[in-house]
Amino acid sequence: MAVNEPLPGTSDLWEPETLDWITLENAARDVFHRYGYGELRTPIFERTDVFVRNLGNETDVVQKEMYTFEDRGGRSLTLRPEGTAGVIRAIAFKGLEQGEESRVFYFGPMFRGERPAAGRRRQFHQIGVEAVGNESPWMDAEVIAMLSQFLEHIGVTGGHVMVNSRGLPEDRPRVSQALKDYFSRFAGDMCEDCQRRLETNVWRMLDCKNPACHEIALGAPNIVDLLGDDSKMFFSKVCQGLKDLGVEFELAPRLVRGLDYYIHTVFEITHSGLGAQDALAGGGRYRITLPGGKKPVEGIGFAAGMERLLLARQSLGMVPPEVHEADVYVVSLGEEAVLPGLQLAQRLRENTACRVKADFSARSLKAQMRSANKCGAKVVLMQGSQELADGVVICRDMVAASQETLPVEQALAWAMAHC
Ligand code: HAM
Repeated sequence: MAVNEPLPGTSDLWEPETLDWITLENAARDVFHRYGYGELRTPIFERTDVFVRNLGNETDVVQKEMYTFEDRGGRSLTLRPEGTAGVIRAIAFKGLEQGEESRVFYFGPMFRGERPAAGRRRQFHQIGVEAVGNESPWMDAEVIAMLSQFLEHIGVTGGHVMVNSRGLPEDRPRVSQALKDYFSRFAGDMCEDCQRRLETNVWRMLDCKNPACHEIALGAPNIVDLLGDDSKMFFSKVCQGLKDLGVEFELAPRLVRGLDYYIHTVFEITHSGLGAQDALAGGGRYRITLPGGKKPVEGIGFAAGMERLLLARQSLGMVPPEVHEADVYVVSLGEEAVLPGLQLAQRLRENTACRVKADFSARSLKAQMRSANKCGAKVVLMQGSQELADGVVICRDMVAASQETLPVEQALAWAMAHC
């Protein structure tokens, strides 16, 4: 690894890529605001128990992937591996009255110690939403519709919405037993993780990526068939809501999702442009006991991986916009022209959104013009001692390769019109 290379699974992001990131964030703000969600920013690190308690001890994230460290005060802290747990902690801290709702969205870096691959990073970024305190199945349909609208807004077509239900906690013993009965017949042919999961988390055997395990899971009982009436009714309303809102979706009987907090609806959106890591976004309904709270609260939310959204856009031919370091380059010939050149640049910046760069080097005309070209400038404004004495500026149109000399005020107007 070269000395200054970022650590595996992390990247430096430069323009024009960063402009694409801003596009995603702005589109998310635009769409989520329409549904009454407000932006929340939570800390990047939290007490470790915030994640362990909410995500579940047996999950891959908690067992193998968290970046956990002790701070100088001996507290165990963790870099957030996902956004939901911190959002729930923040809502608990603010206080949620009985019957009150909170609808928030968030962006930001998340950290998981996974093996880096295309679309799988150790520092990655999520755009997520959480609607906490609403127990209606229509809410689930609306959240999934909102995610679909967001994807459409950023031009990501061709995503597959897959939906399943995990039912209520009271359904679990029955479903777990049926899954155990089924999988124990094949345990010897399954991967080591699945053999462990048979005892610790049999549901995860349904979505193991190992080909042999997947083959076996295809014959497993369908969770939804095993759920109680209340859970079945809830799920059928979610599906009805999706149909009525015009969201195309597929039932995915083996979708269980990797985090333990889910009840009822779970969903994922996959995209064929992503390769092996094909989940663009995932989410579901959860029931979490807020720290200090007596009654658990329910919420529903999702998170989309920003790197994966960008990969999907690329697979559809959307590339970052072309940008120039500068639209206008101010060349100053001789020391005495440097400060007036800087003033010209400043006036342009106060009056336009153009990118303006002033050259303070007092180098030769040739050297400064070379830099102007390298920046991709469309316009060069030039002054030397003669122009300063005459109160004029040489205005060069780099695209047309022509130039004219204009009084300062006119030169500024000319530059604004040409950049
Ligand atoms: P998740 O499925 O673990 O769910 O992650 C959501 C999305 O984050 C994935 O679909 C993927 O696009 C992206 N992602 C996850 N891990 C990586 C990685 N290592 N590299 C790149 N992208 C990644 C959650 O995080 C839940 N908190 C979602 C949720 C919100 N459920 C309810 N509310």
